[in-house]
Amino acid sequence: MRVLLTGGAGYIGSHTALALLNAGYDVVVLDNLSNSSPEAFRRVEALTGKKAPLIIGDCTDGDTVRAVFENHGPIDAVIHFAGLKAVGESVEKPLDYYQNNLDATMALCRVMPEYGCRALVFSSSATVYGVTQEMPLREDFPTGCTNPYGWTKWISERILTDVAKADPSRSFVLLRYFNPIGAHESGRIGEDPAGIPNNLMPYICQVASGKLDHLRVFGNDYPTRDGTGERDYIHVMDLAEGHLAALDYALKNSGVEVFNLGTGTPYSVLDIVRAFEEANGLTIPYEITPRRPGDIAVCYADASRARDVLHWQAKRDLKQMCRDAWNWQKHNPRGYGDK
Ligand code: NAD
Ligand code: WQD
Repeated sequence: MRVLLTGGAGYIGSHTALALLNAGYDVVVLDNLSNSSPEAFRRVEALTGKKAPLIIGDCTDGDTVRAVFENHGPIDAVIHFAGLKAVGESVEKPLDYYQNNLDATMALCRVMPEYGCRALVFSSSATVYGVTQEMPLREDFPTGCTNPYGWTKWISERILTDVAKADPSRSFVLLRYFNPIGAHESGRIGEDPAGIPNNLMPYICQVASGKLDHLRVFGNDYPTRDGTGERDYIHVMDLAEGHLAALDYALKNSGVEVFNLGTGTPYSVLDIVRAFEEANGLTIPYEITPRRPGDIAVCYADASRARDVLHWQAKRDLKQMCRDAWNWQKHNPRGYGDK
């Protein structure tokens, strides 16, 4: 069974590639390396002892995608990670985000049937739920977004739904990820953000390593247990394993299905700081600052649908997420070093 991973050199893609190779799948990666390093993929090969071609190219270009199917087929399924993902940047450069993220989805939709490939797993996001009061979030809740990045996920979900409606032989699984953190247990692959991290865990890791001075906690006046924002953090290897379950489902079924991939447990920013300190025996200096514009108070999943239908649930706890995040940072202070 051979699977094409678009964006497979990135954070979630590289961890999923590792899980797929270890499970006996053949993997082909198409990545333009706009936010990743080929070193990630070399390490995946070293960790698994298996070879997987990394094709450096753009997924928005139909001919490039076609050449991958032509030269590296037969491809049985696609996991589509490729996309730009920085919320703030998407507000500044909306056209770049719409063009990259939507053209990539559409190019795949066009080329796959030319090669008889009908199954695709899509990286969507909890951000498509927009601002809603009711928690935990269930897949059938209303959707809507607050920034261009989110809309690219929302519109991609729409495109895939319409394409599957027009051709019922297709099989698309839309995965709405919550907050992936952590790294593979080996510490050889992990998250390598360019510049100053936007997200909480990579920021904490850089404070722990001394690269950044202290954490700014964005607001302690939310209506939550301790006043700081609560999120559903999920270990990236649990997320990777969720893709294996989704892939299996996509190959055996047709139509469109949506699943939350989260743990169902919310943790506050201060919970994360404390858990990181305890797991790693370190102190994370922080100050409370005003809220970050666009943030919501609480966001966590009802994870029961993935459990009941995909027979998957997250296994790794917060301590392990914190330990593995630091293990990666500690051993790779410059990330993959060549970005
Ligand atoms: P990432 O940036 O590490 O990985 C994305 C990869 O896609 C990168 O390697 C990048 O080089 C590649 N890419 C981007 N545009 C491309 C194109 N046109 N052609 C080929 N390759 C291209 O991000 P990630 O955290 O691994 O996220 C993977 C997917 O999951 C993304 O679609 C992201 O939007 C989605 N997602 C991420 C999170 C998160 O918090 N990390 C949460 C929800 C959803
Ligand atoms: C988590 C919590 C912050 C940094 C983002 C995207 C979302 C998805 C995942 C792709 C919040 C607080 C953070 C810091 C802080 N990506 N925080 N100080 O905002 O839940 O989600 O990544 O789909 O679309 O919006 O994640 O890690 O940025 O923030 O206090 O320096 O940590 O306010 O409460 P977020 P995050």
